Amino acid sequence: MSDDPIKDVLRRLPYGLYSITSRMDDEINAMVLNWFSQISFEPQLVAIAVQKTSYSYKLISLGKVFIVNVFNKKEVGAIKPFIKGHSKSPDKMKDAMFTEGPITGCPILEGAAAYLECKVSAIHDVGGDHNIIVGEVVGAGRIKPGDAKDSLTLPDLGWSYAG
Ligand SMILES: Cc1cc2nc3c(=O)[nH]c(=O)nc-3n(C[C@H](O)[C@H](O)[C@H](O)COP(=O)(O)O)c2cc1C
Repeated sequence: MSDDPIKDVLRRLPYGLYSITSRMDDEINAMVLNWFSQISFEPQLVAIAVQKTSYSYKLISLGKVFIVNVFNKKEVGAIKPFIKGHSKSPDKMKDAMFTEGPITGCPILEGAAAYLECKVSAIHDVGGDHNIIVGEVVGAGRIKPGDAKDSLTLPDLGWSYAG
């Protein structure tokens, strides 16, 4: 616990943990992200909050596509190569194993249990350090068996990205 109740409560929320992959022409990237949610049934929309200074933000806002890679808990090692940002690790995709999403061409990372292919339908500047990127889900794949209780979450790693 910290002495800031707002931080404490924001950190108490049970976030998932994903890798968001992106593509603009031949440029591809993968980042680790927990600020993700479905936000509409019809159409099926999702939203991610992405740091404005990240390389992923640039690729997604220009390329207008992204994939949400979902992992099973036991595949935690699969996201580790993508934790560092492009500025510190410009070659992080060089040895990455992936296939291309059939609709968006974004990477489906080796080890992913499932994925959502998304086309950007809106970007909202919310006046903070992250912007909200809304994506319409245009495709999905189930690679490994499992359901919500099997999916990797932020608490599984004991990490925090909130507060
Ligand atoms: C556990 C964890 C969760 C994260 N969640 C988010 C998030 O929800 N949104 C975000 O923009 N960055 C998040 N980050 C930070 C990005 O992964 C980080 O800014 C990364 O450097 C961006 O990579 P890029 O510049 O290659 O796109 C998270 C990092 C970690 C370790």
